[in-house]
Amino acid sequence: MKIVVTGSLGQLGYELMRQAEGSAHTYVFTDVRESEKTVSLDITDRDAVEAFIGDDVDVIINCAAYTDVNRAESDEAMAQKINSDAPGNLARAALKAGALLMHISTDYVFDGKGYLPYSEESQTGPLSAYGRTKLSGEKAVAESGCRYMIFRTAWLYSLTGKNFFLTMADLTASKPMLKVVYDQVGTPTNAADLAFLLSHIIEENKLDRTGLYHYTNEGVCSWYDFTKEINDLLGHTCNVMPCRTDEFPTPAARPHYSVLDKKKVRETFGLEIPHWKESLRLAVKEYMNS
Ligand SMILES: NC(=O)c1ccc[n+]([C@@H]2O[C@H](COP(=O)([O-])OP(=O)(O)OC[C@H]3O[C@@H](n4cnc5c(N)ncnc54)[C@H](OP(=O)(O)O)[C@@H]3O)[C@@H](O)[C@H]2O)c1
Repeated sequence: MKIVVTGSLGQLGYELMRQAEGSAHTYVFTDVRESEKTVSLDITDRDAVEAFIGDDVDVIINCAAYTDVNRAESDEAMAQKINSDAPGNLARAALKAGALLMHISTDYVFDGKGYLPYSEESQTGPLSAYGRTKLSGEKAVAESGCRYMIFRTAWLYSLTGKNFFLTMADLTASKPMLKVVYDQVGTPTNAADLAFLLSHIIEENKLDRTGLYHYTNEGVCSWYDFTKEINDLLGHTCNVMPCRTDEFPTPAARPHYSVLDKKKVRETFGLEIPHWKESLRLAVKEYMNS
């Protein structure tokens, strides 16, 4: 099979690149930036996408996105272009090629006012520009007529790029005390685990199981708990203190509760999902060896 990956220099794309090593399939890794490992493809360029996705493409994995949640508040038009119009371009190309589109979305499509894990059928209600544009992207894919899988994930981290894990690894090393919010609850997700799910679907040829899915690591925690665990696993001695969201106002509102129910993804693909603490332990081990 031929698989085209977009946004390959981001966290998820990079993990997919690592996991594709040794695959019998042909992967083509693209990103808006050309690099040693990627071919240039700007997914907002409709003509370029149409020209790039030939009839020989079997799967498109869209890892590209506008992921700066705060900046999106003052830059919603650009976020909409990348998070919604561009997935529409990929969906049209997938439909034309008869390819499957795997698209990634977010827990920020929910308003966070619930107290039970959100299922795929739960009512959406994004609080932020980022959430609105991602929800709009889901609709563009779902209404295109192409075969698709949409995976909503949350609190993604890895050893590359800019993310909460790396920020807190640095801050807990350099600061004696750190306040972190405890009134936003969700589940961290090691990008390698989500990449493993996507690779598993391809390697095990489960491409016919189309639809909308929720995927994060197992378990529940606050950003405070996540930071405390990072601090402790790294052996740092920072005094991590809980605080409320309103002590550190940010341009974008975030859901207070965004735990995702993963029953559907577990049952459909027959995979055990690692607990966030176990996946974090592995990430910390790799971080310390890097
Ligand atoms: N990060 C999270 O916590 C989180 C949580 C929930 C869901 N998600 C979703 O998970 C997916 C993967 O996220 P991630 O954290 O891996 O993202 P990421 O690290 O921000 O990577 C996104 C990649 O897409 C590239 N890109 C931006 N605009 C593009 C364009 N027009 N054409 C092609 N590539 C473009 C980016 O390049 P530049 O860096 O040069 O812009 C970057 O390399 C996204 O759909 C995201 O919305 C992420």
